Amino acid sequence: MTQIVSPENESDLDKGMVIFQDVRKVYDDSIVAVENLNLIINKGELVSLIGPSGCGKTTTLKIVNRLEECTSGKILIGGMDIMSLDPVRLRRGIGYVVQEIALMPHMSVAENIGIVPRLHNWPRKKIMKRVDELLEMSGLEPAKYRYRLPDQLSGGQKQRIGVLRALAAEPEVILMDEPFGALDPISREVLQNELLSIQQKLHKTIIFVTHDMDEALKISDRVVIMRSGKIEQMGSPAEIQENPATEFVRNFIGEDRLSQISPEDSVSVLVEDPWGKAYPDQSASDVLSMMEDEDMESIQVVEKRANRWAGMAYLRDVKRISRTGGSVRDAARRDRKLYLEEATMRDAAEMLADKAYPIPVIDEQGEFLGVITEAGIARLTIGRLKRRVTGGASQ
Ligand SMILES: Nc1ncnc2c1ncn2[C@@H]1O[C@H](COP(=O)(O)OP(=O)(O)OP(=O)(O)O)[C@@H](O)[C@H]1O
Ligand SMILES: [Mg+2]
Repeated sequence: MTQIVSPENESDLDKGMVIFQDVRKVYDDSIVAVENLNLIINKGELVSLIGPSGCGKTTTLKIVNRLEECTSGKILIGGMDIMSLDPVRLRRGIGYVVQEIALMPHMSVAENIGIVPRLHNWPRKKIMKRVDELLEMSGLEPAKYRYRLPDQLSGGQKQRIGVLRALAAEPEVILMDEPFGALDPISREVLQNELLSIQQKLHKTIIFVTHDMDEALKISDRVVIMRSGKIEQMGSPAEIQENPATEFVRNFIGEDRLSQISPEDSVSVLVEDPWGKAYPDQSASDVLSMMEDEDMESIQVVEKRANRWAGMAYLRDVKRISRTGGSVRDAARRDRKLYLEEATMRDAAEMLADKAYPIPVIDEQGEFLGVITEAGIARLTIGRLKRRVTGGASQ
């Protein structure tokens, strides 16, 4: 896969996949900013890097466009080792947006956007066409904004021009370092939405650094949570919210952003093995003594073969049948049950509120899967309560 050749021009970078192999960056022989970073970013993917201040996010971006050079390891873009490329040409082939956009103050909006295309010697007409196209894409009327100076723009507009400037020469890879970090919440949201809609059209490979978890969860295909120069966890926004790998991640995401249980969720997480089971052919008196020993109010009756559910027997019925010498099958009732495929948390909670007995859960074929109990619901709730007490966003 490694192909160490020097491309004729930056467009050879356009395959867009970015691979970090064992990348390490040490500043001043002692400050380890990035440690053994291994990460593959697919073409067209928007990946956010998020983590506490100083964890190495900016450094990770800067070593991609060689504003900094890694101490060891390798970065490949489109299969090519970036160290085999001329750094100036490499940088021209990669879009870069930072928080405090440094637009050239004496240049118009059009000239600012056209900087990189000009370095690529695009013809003037092509540049003007591209500038207008980008302004339109971003909802800024070209006739009105083309000739403005940066001073005549709002903060949000300046930042937007910064993004357009990074897109102008159609790079496949764009690095964004807290691009919306300095904006007010409303402008930030507008620009996030705009970035999403641009991304839907253009499918760039974007590495996006942010401090803002809501932003990362909203815009990213994948979120990489960093801590002290290392990856603590990566995954889709849903994955990291549903399965935070460590306490650090859990705290960093913040308790209120962790997936909440909805009343409409499936009961599957609540299904547990029952205390005891009886086989239909067992005599009611044997089952009765077991239930009395174990202090059980009810028991699930399940066929040995195929694990088919035969019903649920209550203590009083088992007692009654035991007096006639019958089997527990005769005591089993089949009216209380939930089907896993369709049962929701709300169904389970309502049934338990009505009667505190365990609820058997079966599948459509009638196979017994387990029970839902009041205790199970209580444990789930307590787990959440505990996390809230120990939690609290750390940054
Ligand atoms: N030029 C430099 N010389 C020495 N140390 C540096 C340099 N740049 C960054 N560092 C150190 O490297 C570590 C990582 O810094 P980096 O800027 O990558 O963090 P960051 O995650 O972007 O932080 P923030 O969220 O505050 O922007 C920090 O300890 C920082 O002090
Ligand atoms: Mg930074």
